[in-house]
Amino acid sequence: MFGTWAGKISGMSKYDELRRFMKSDFAGLAGAKSDQDAGLPQPPLQKPTPQQAEIIDLPDADAVPLIRPDFRDILKRRRSRRNFSEKPLALAELSFLLWATQGVTKTVGDNYATLRPVPSAGARHPFETYIAINRVEGLRTGVYRYLPLGHKLVFVHSPQGQADRLMRAAMGQPFASTAAATFVWACVAYRGEWRYGPAAHKPMLIDAGHVCQNLYLACEAIGCGTCAIAAYDQKLLDELLLLDGQDEFAVYLAPVGRK
Ligand SMILES: Cc1cc2nc3c(=O)[nH]c(=O)nc-3n(C[C@H](O)[C@H](O)[C@H](O)COP(=O)(O)O)c2cc1C
Repeated sequence: MFGTWAGKISGMSKYDELRRFMKSDFAGLAGAKSDQDAGLPQPPLQKPTPQQAEIIDLPDADAVPLIRPDFRDILKRRRSRRNFSEKPLALAELSFLLWATQGVTKTVGDNYATLRPVPSAGARHPFETYIAINRVEGLRTGVYRYLPLGHKLVFVHSPQGQADRLMRAAMGQPFASTAAATFVWACVAYRGEWRYGPAAHKPMLIDAGHVCQNLYLACEAIGCGTCAIAAYDQKLLDELLLLDGQDEFAVYLAPVGRK
């Protein structure tokens, strides 16, 4: 019944568990106290940056002209794009794509929540955005992290053989190495768990879909393209981004380039 996967996962109970994960836990947990209810401190909205970190100011995202300003036209044209030109992205274009996916449009309360161009269950926005830069004007090759609260980047590191490692982390999919920049969304799980406990995990994955969809649409608007990737090697990708794989781990990635 389970074809070639049979040897990899053991029978129906595993599928039950996986299907269970796709269902909602909210009714079963009604009345239970979350860490938020118990008064535990809220995790920061954005991962702190190390002292001495190299911070890069991003150009104003509003300054980027839209090649395709018509929303209906963008929706019609949206496609997964896996062939990219050699031409680099401008820093302002990267700025626009970061803003469109995870930029902050409003802060609520005393750093209680942020509102962004994408929805998020409980406005928790449980992701950090990492960008593996290959060809972006004004940025050297390396892994960077987006700081949505100030609309900046922080340099993380320059891994040896980055493009090749990225391709291997994407299970050999070649367009991961030819992209100008690859967006990787890493989940900081406690941001959701603090509020929703064991009901948080399904909504956090749904949140990731919204983020990537905005990347698709924003790319089309500026003459770029992207393709979502869920087929990746968890260990290789977490290692490339220097993530601990426990409290913070990659959940989705999308290489971007000019069409
Ligand atoms: C959750 C998700 C995971 C995906 N993973 C991959 C992937 O690993 N590799 C790939 O080439 N395309 C991937 N895609 C892109 C799909 O193959 C693509 O959306 C589909 O073929 C339809 O094409 P379209 O996006 O151009 O409409 C993924 C799409 C989604 C939504």
